[in-house]
Amino acid sequence: MAIRNIIKDDDPTLRKISRRVEEITPRIRTLLDDMLDTMHRANGCGLAAVQVGVLRRVVVVETEEGHPIELINPAIIKASEETQNELEGCLSLPGRWGYTVRPKTVTVRAQDRNGDFFEVTGSDLLARALCHELDHLDGKLYPDVSVHMLTKKEMKEAGLIPAD
Ligand code: NI
Repeated sequence: MAIRNIIKDDDPTLRKISRRVEEITPRIRTLLDDMLDTMHRANGCGLAAVQVGVLRRVVVVETEEGHPIELINPAIIKASEETQNELEGCLSLPGRWGYTVRPKTVTVRAQDRNGDFFEVTGSDLLARALCHELDHLDGKLYPDVSVHMLTKKEMKEAGLIPAD
């Protein structure tokens, strides 16, 4: 496994649409390994391949420690009408946080590293992480859908950045 560089901020690659994975090659499996390693090192709970500069529909999510989920060609097949409005951040947008309205529960269908299809249903943090990472595959970043980006003062009050 290897740590890859996470692209950040205004890098135009983050706005590109990722391509489907037609064949799960050893290269894709290495990408998954590296993405998990990179996400762990950065203390994140999700990472999309585009964030390491690879425009393929590959995502890793880990909202419960020790239970990583690898998703190839993921798609949301069900979303609850009930929503949640919680704080979100992104490893590609360091030093920023904002509230987003997301479904409370979503079901995603994807392929695993062997090419087998599976479904995962997640609520709360897992639902947010799945929505956030899948948006990355279409070049969308959470500030696009945020209902309120925190101000510097709010970030300080929340302890997200050091107080003066
Ligand atoms: Ni992100």
